[in-house]
Amino acid sequence: MAVFFKDANGNFFTSVKAGVGAPEGFEPVEANSVDAAREKHVPAVDLERDGHIIHVQVGEVAHPMEPEHYIEWIALEADGRLEVHALKPGQTPATFFAGGVKSGRVYAYCNLHGLWVKEF
Ligand SMILES: [Fe+2]
Repeated sequence: MAVFFKDANGNFFTSVKAGVGAPEGFEPVEANSVDAAREKHVPAVDLERDGHIIHVQVGEVAHPMEPEHYIEWIALEADGRLEVHALKPGQTPATFFAGGVKSGRVYAYCNLHGLWVKEF
């Protein structure tokens, strides 16, 4: 499982290797640990075209994408790789990843409500 760390400026450090510790000045970010609406934050994962395309929306009910409250990025962890798609306010809280994997994790980061993960 990928690990995520954040510093006071909002920068992230992440790794897919087990046992990686926080760099100096970074704090661990735990997924699904903030008390907020799960249906707006837990990524909804759809394997399309026989799994060749992974469609992700945040969440079951689309999350707001306002400048003061939005999904900063969506990431796919599968097969030892981590692919991050950055988003901006005004965009749809969704993205596509190349598939070809049967299982993995999808992460979403809300600027107000933190990190969320869904296994598939
Ligand atoms: Fe949020």
